Amino acid sequence: MTSQQPPKPRYLEEDVLTQECMNLISSLPKEKGWVTTTLYKYQGFWHSTKQLEGLLSCQKHFEAQDTDILLITTPKSGTTWLKAILFALVNRNTFPLTQLAADDHPLLSNNPHTLVPFLELELYADNNIPDLSTFASPRLFSTHLPYVSLPNSIVRSSQGKLVYLCRNPKDTFISLWAFTNKMRLEEMGSNSLEEVFEKFCRGVSLYGPFWDHVLGYWEESLKNPKKVFFLKYEEMIEQPKLHLKKLADFLGCSFSSKDEKQVTIERILEICSFDNLSNVEVNKEGKLPIGVNCNTFFRKGKVGDWKNYLTTEMEARLDKICEEKLDGSGLKF
Ligand code: A3P
Repeated sequence: MTSQQPPKPRYLEEDVLTQECMNLISSLPKEKGWVTTTLYKYQGFWHSTKQLEGLLSCQKHFEAQDTDILLITTPKSGTTWLKAILFALVNRNTFPLTQLAADDHPLLSNNPHTLVPFLELELYADNNIPDLSTFASPRLFSTHLPYVSLPNSIVRSSQGKLVYLCRNPKDTFISLWAFTNKMRLEEMGSNSLEEVFEKFCRGVSLYGPFWDHVLGYWEESLKNPKKVFFLKYEEMIEQPKLHLKKLADFLGCSFSSKDEKQVTIERILEICSFDNLSNVEVNKEGKLPIGVNCNTFFRKGKVGDWKNYLTTEMEARLDKICEEKLDGSGLKF
């Protein structure tokens, strides 16, 4: 009897592609990937083939509504956390948090990525055109796409809100290195820190260059602060109540005096805390449809973990790149 190989996770199926995507990638610059064999540069940013296929499909088919809320993040900046927060915030009347252990709250039985799905990685993946009619308004979606690659209807939509989250590049890099090593199959071995550090510095990372991604949304948030809310992971860690209030104001669902009485802000932060979410059964044992284990989204959740991994030279190099790239923008990490 032959031993059965477990099926490849979907994100590693690089050769099952639409003809359109195959034609496109044949003309694109390419580099060795961190998880998949190859990354391709499209519209100035690096993508795996599966990402690209989803990107093309959602660029073509996604129709934004004026009440939509789109969470956009650089990978490993705390997407899972902010998805949970947005879901709990926007749905606080439907799913009240009046008792801390609100046993039936969806966040206690679903991974945040299920509640706020990715456009290009989930809904429009595999060239799919999803039926979004079951999504209640306001619809909550997420993406890692850079500003230049957003579907036109999102950019054109006058009312839709964009919430952008990023994180200090040194912690982002370490988190990405650790995450991508978990995404690799055992037989692929791990990426060496030094090898992927070089790539990150050259901008060759998932949805990189990191700086171009961040700057694209930073500039839009300055031009149009009613449309784009710009937030850093570190700010949210340091002053969670303040930034959650700002987020609620931005989304037009400010906390009321009733919310204050019911300590809703505190309860949202509590249910979405690293300790709480990482101990929820589905987040410990579950798997997302794209084949990623839910527990890979919860590692340490700390600011400054890069100090345990980067040498002084690496730190200086990344700081210098960051300074040069962000020079004059008003943005600092
Ligand atoms: P570390 O790898 O530094 O621990 P993303 O959700 O964008 O993939 O980001 C993952 C990072 O966010 C990981 O960082 C993870 O531990 C951290 N994280 C996940 N849930 C969190 C939470 N509830 N609060 C704070 N950080 C969280």
